[in-house]
Amino acid sequence: MTIRTLESLGSLDGKTVIIRCDLNVPLKDGTITDDGRIRASLPTLRALASQGAKVVIVSHLGRPEGRPEAKYSLAPVAARLSELLEEPVAFAVDTVGQAAQDAVAALSGDGHFLLLENLRFNAGETSKDDAERRAFASQLAAFADVFVSDGFGVVHRKQASVYELAELLPSAAGLLIETELDVLEKLTEKPTRPYAVVLGGSKVSDKLGVIGHLLPKVDSLLIGGGMLFTFLAAQGYQVGASLLEKDQIDTVKGYLDKAAELGVKIVLPTDVVVASKFGADAEHTVTSAQTIEETPFGESGLGLDIGPETAAAFADIIESSHTVFWNGPMGVFELAPFAEGTRSIAAALTKVDGLGVVGGGDSAAAVRALGFTDDQFGHISTGGGASLEFLEGKRLPGLDVLGWTA
Ligand code: 3PG
Repeated sequence: MTIRTLESLGSLDGKTVIIRCDLNVPLKDGTITDDGRIRASLPTLRALASQGAKVVIVSHLGRPEGRPEAKYSLAPVAARLSELLEEPVAFAVDTVGQAAQDAVAALSGDGHFLLLENLRFNAGETSKDDAERRAFASQLAAFADVFVSDGFGVVHRKQASVYELAELLPSAAGLLIETELDVLEKLTEKPTRPYAVVLGGSKVSDKLGVIGHLLPKVDSLLIGGGMLFTFLAAQGYQVGASLLEKDQIDTVKGYLDKAAELGVKIVLPTDVVVASKFGADAEHTVTSAQTIEETPFGESGLGLDIGPETAAAFADIIESSHTVFWNGPMGVFELAPFAEGTRSIAAALTKVDGLGVVGGGDSAAAVRALGFTDDQFGHISTGGGASLEFLEGKRLPGLDVLGWTA
């Protein structure tokens, strides 16, 4: 693997560095509920400051549509960043306007930090028009001497601060991107076998690419989360009112046939937790995956988690594998009655004799919300979509622009 690294930028003493981080953290009523992505950004920020650079940090948060929206402000992130860095972090209330210009000019001395407001408050950041993105990137580039790209979670996006900015200034990958690539490459190049991939989350359609690409490479593919019901439907079972993507049933049938041909095990749940409705106070029961409509809730029964038999079977496979990648919760872990499946998978992953990787913002937030700590896992990737696209074997624009070769 090669990519331009920080060393390629030469001495940063006295220089102004603009760094793209992925500080897109979950917020509830203005409070950060999982600061994992902020923590993951610290090593590069500290490295830049220790070299005497002035550091202008940029990021997005959520998906505002090109104009300011208070609920997507990065202000709470600036405060948390400052606590974690144990240094002041100035905050500019716009992206490239007067406030940002003044704040950049006010950066003084060595190693001072400034965070600009959410880049997606400016339509140029995500514009489909190359010239518009470039124009916005040029305004950002004017703030600095060099660019460091460290937002691994957005390297699959061709956006102004990820792609064009890297073309406009001398640019290099930060330490987080280097770490993420080191781990993900272990999954794609000769993983130690047995190799199991566990996929959850709600939509099969989001994971089709990765399922197709991984099938020939893994020993087992374990399916949980909302998307399991489309797999059950593809096997001919009724799934009540559970999440179902009818238009994906034929594709899923194709994958089941392909797996049989390749001798790869696609392991599907044998039992599920079915609820009367969506809510923590719902009545619920465990039933066989084949009899979802035979509970007291009938056709309105809603599958919200994998069952205990499935969780134990998945845990066995995970613990006896030497390489495991997991993306997507097994059930609605935010609601206590439906968190057990996700908890069991996380616990099994902590016991892998080899490399156990948690991929993606939701799964990372899930394991932390369930009381696990980062150091219990081989690696927690900060990129959900980015890590999946990497495993799909796609070229990622934010890496290509940094001279990445596999
Ligand atoms: C993520 O949460 O996966 C990244 O921050 C990218 O966000 P996006 O999907 O809104 O581009």
